Amino acid sequence: MWQRYKEWLYYHPQLDFYVDISRVRFTPEFVNAMEVQMERAFAEMKALEAGEIANPDEGRMVGHYWLRAPELAPTPAIRRDIETTVQRVLSFAQDVHNGLISPPDPALPHFTDVIWIGIGGSALGPQFVSQALAPLFPPLQFHFLDNTDPDGIDRLLTQLGGRLQTTLTIVTSKSGSTPETANAMKEVRHAYAQMGLEFPPYAVAVTMEASKLDLQARQEGWLETFPMYDWIGGRTSEMSAVGLLAAALEGIDIMGLLEGARVMDSATRVPNLRHNPAALLTMAWYWETKGKGEKAMVILPYKDRLLLLSRYLQQLVMESLGKAKDRQGNLVEQGITVYGNKGTTDQHAYVQQLRDGINNFFATFIEVLRDRPPREIDNPPPEVEPGIYSGDYLMGALLGTRKALYDNNRDSITITIGDVTPKTIGALIALYERAVGFYASLVNINAYDQPGVEAGKKEAQRLLQLQTQLLAILAQENRPMTLEELASKTGGDIEAIYQIVRHLDANFRINLEGNTGKPDTLLISPLQES
Ligand code: PA5
Repeated sequence: MWQRYKEWLYYHPQLDFYVDISRVRFTPEFVNAMEVQMERAFAEMKALEAGEIANPDEGRMVGHYWLRAPELAPTPAIRRDIETTVQRVLSFAQDVHNGLISPPDPALPHFTDVIWIGIGGSALGPQFVSQALAPLFPPLQFHFLDNTDPDGIDRLLTQLGGRLQTTLTIVTSKSGSTPETANAMKEVRHAYAQMGLEFPPYAVAVTMEASKLDLQARQEGWLETFPMYDWIGGRTSEMSAVGLLAAALEGIDIMGLLEGARVMDSATRVPNLRHNPAALLTMAWYWETKGKGEKAMVILPYKDRLLLLSRYLQQLVMESLGKAKDRQGNLVEQGITVYGNKGTTDQHAYVQQLRDGINNFFATFIEVLRDRPPREIDNPPPEVEPGIYSGDYLMGALLGTRKALYDNNRDSITITIGDVTPKTIGALIALYERAVGFYASLVNINAYDQPGVEAGKKEAQRLLQLQTQLLAILAQENRPMTLEELASKTGGDIEAIYQIVRHLDANFRINLEGNTGKPDTLLISPLQES
C-alpha cells in the first residue's frame, strides 16, 4: 500500500494540497487505457478555454476558467468585463462596510444584514463559501432565501423584524426569470413596503444584461446591478459576481479565492494524467463508476466548516453529468450520484451502511491538517486524554474509517489541504470544476446545459394554470362541486385537481366537505365571504 500511495500521491506545494487516489483499486492496464482517453479530454478542454462553443445545445462558450485568469479570455471585451466586475465588487463591499453606501434613513449609518435571494447555482456556491470562510463576526449578517417556501420566508422576516430597515437585499438570477427567486423577492419587497420603505434603495441585482430582473432593477433605480454573462453557468459561478459579491460583503478575501482557483487551474491544465490532479480524480471516478454512474460518490469532509461541500458538489456533479443523451443524441442516461455530510458525525449515522451494507459507492475524504489557529502560549487547547487533543480524534477517525472501508473492499479518494483558507477553497472548487469537465468528455456528454430541470418547471406552470381555472369555475358556479365535475369542466386530470384542492383548503382559500380520505365523496366550494 505504501508503494502505491507514494506512486499515486499528488502534491501541489504552492497550495499545500494533496490528492491521493491510491485507495482506488485501478489496474495498470486501466491507467494505460485512460492515458489514451484523457488525450481527448485535454484537447476538448483546451478548445473550451480558447472560447469554442462548448455548450452547443445553448450555443454558448463556457468561460468560468477566465474568471480567475482574465488574460486568457478570448476577447479583450470579456477580459475587461471580468476585471471591471472584480473591482466593482471590491469597491461596493468596501463602501457598504464603511457606510458610504447605507440605508436611506440618515439616522441609520450602516447596513447590518443581507438577504441573499437566489437558487441553485445562484445560492449553493455563496452558501458553501460562507459556511467555510466567513469570519465569526462578519461585517454583515447573511441570510439566504433559496426557495419559494412561504414559511421559510416568514421565519426569516420575523427573525429580522425591525432590522429589515438596515438590510440589503441581493437578488441573484442569471436568467432573471426564475420563479422561486422572483417570488421570494416579491415577498421581501412586500415586507419592506409594510414598514413604509421603498424597495429600490435596499435592492441589488446580479443578473444578465437585459434580463427581466435587469430591466426591473434599472427602471426602478435599484442601488446597484452586477453582471452575469451567458458564458458562465450557474453552478460554475462562484468566481463571478455571484460568489464574489457575497463573499466580499461577508469580509472574505476574494482575491485569495481567485488566486487559489487560478493556481489550481494551471495545475489542471497539464496534459498529463499522472501530473494533473483533476485528471487523477477523473480517472478514479471513471474506474469506480465504470463510466456509467454505477457507484455513488460520498463526500466526507472532516471539518464542520466544510459541511456544505457535499451539497455544493451534488449540484456541480449531478446537474452537469446527469444527462439523458450523449453529444450525438444517443440515449445514455449518465450521471454520478453525490451525497454526504461530514465526519466524524456521519460515522454515527450512515457510515454503518457504507462499511457493512450495499457496496454501491466510493468515498472522498477531505482532510484538513490544521486543527485550529495557534493559541497564545498561556492559553493552550485542552487535552481530551493525556497528550491527545480533539483534533487528533478527528484525524484518527478519518484514517480509521478509511481503513475500515478499504479492508472491506470499499474504495476511497483522499483530498488533504493544509487549512481552510480562501486559497484552498478556491483551489477545491477549481479542482472539481475541471474534473467534471474532463469526466463529461470521457463519457461524451454536454456538462454545461440542464435540459432536465425544464420539464418540472413546465409541469408546475401547467398546474398553476389549472388552479387558476378551477378557482374561476368555483367562483362562477358558486356551489359545492365534485372532483369529477371539476375535471370535466377544466379538462384537467383528476389527481392533479385533488392535490390542488387539498392545498387550497389547507390554506383557507376554498372549502372541502366530506373529506373522509376517499376523494370520491369530496365536495368543493368557494370560500364564502363572511
Ligand atoms: O447551474 C444552473 O444553471 C442552475 O442551477 C441555475 O443556477 C438555477 O436554476 C438558477 O438559475 P438563475 O440563476 O437563472 O435564477
